[in-house]
Amino acid sequence: MVVLGEVFPNFEADSTEGRLKFHDWVGGSWCILMAHPSDFTPVCTTEMGAAAKLAPALLRRGVKMACISCDPVESHKAWIEDIKAYNGLGSNAFPFPIISDETRQLAKKFSMIDPNEPRFDNKPATARAVFIIGPDLRLRLSMLYPGTTGRNFAEIQRVMESLLVTAKHKVVTPEQWQVGEKCFVVPFLSATEANQAFPAGVHVHSVPSGKEYLRTTPMPK
Ligand code: BEZ
Repeated sequence: MVVLGEVFPNFEADSTEGRLKFHDWVGGSWCILMAHPSDFTPVCTTEMGAAAKLAPALLRRGVKMACISCDPVESHKAWIEDIKAYNGLGSNAFPFPIISDETRQLAKKFSMIDPNEPRFDNKPATARAVFIIGPDLRLRLSMLYPGTTGRNFAEIQRVMESLLVTAKHKVVTPEQWQVGEKCFVVPFLSATEANQAFPAGVHVHSVPSGKEYLRTTPMPK
């Protein structure tokens, strides 16, 4: 189990883009590393389509994507054609590597197996994991969904946007925050520091306690 803030373990594996040495491949970018149960399965086909639609814009922002699946590379390559066709992705190259974990070594290492999940070939399906890893290779976010339930890639995009802005500025983002909306100033900045850090303005919301912790500012650029 990888814990938030720890360096995400390095690994080496085959992928649809050749042999991949994970830390070298991340190479100082942000990385969204996803895992899904199996190639040629319906829910995964929809998820990979959603991820492929997001990938080019995220890459332009310095965020790479990769996916792990327990099938061999040749299977991934054939499945990519189905993903493209089903999700109307056209004939462009698939925008991120799909890593092969045939021995399930990575699935075990990253605690992605629930023994009660639906079974493929008499083995439990691996879970749907999302790890967001910072440019310093430390784990910044982790999500684990069961095989039965597809992820919401709009939410993955939303949390990625939050991680990008909160890594750069002393802000935090509220429930349902969307890119472009106001952020909260982190509670540990004094009023003077907050006014200096956010020249676009800091609005203090008054609450019955009289405590001045609800301070909003336009999303910093
Ligand atoms: C899927 O459609 O992706 C799926 C279905 C059953 C178990 C695991 C995955």
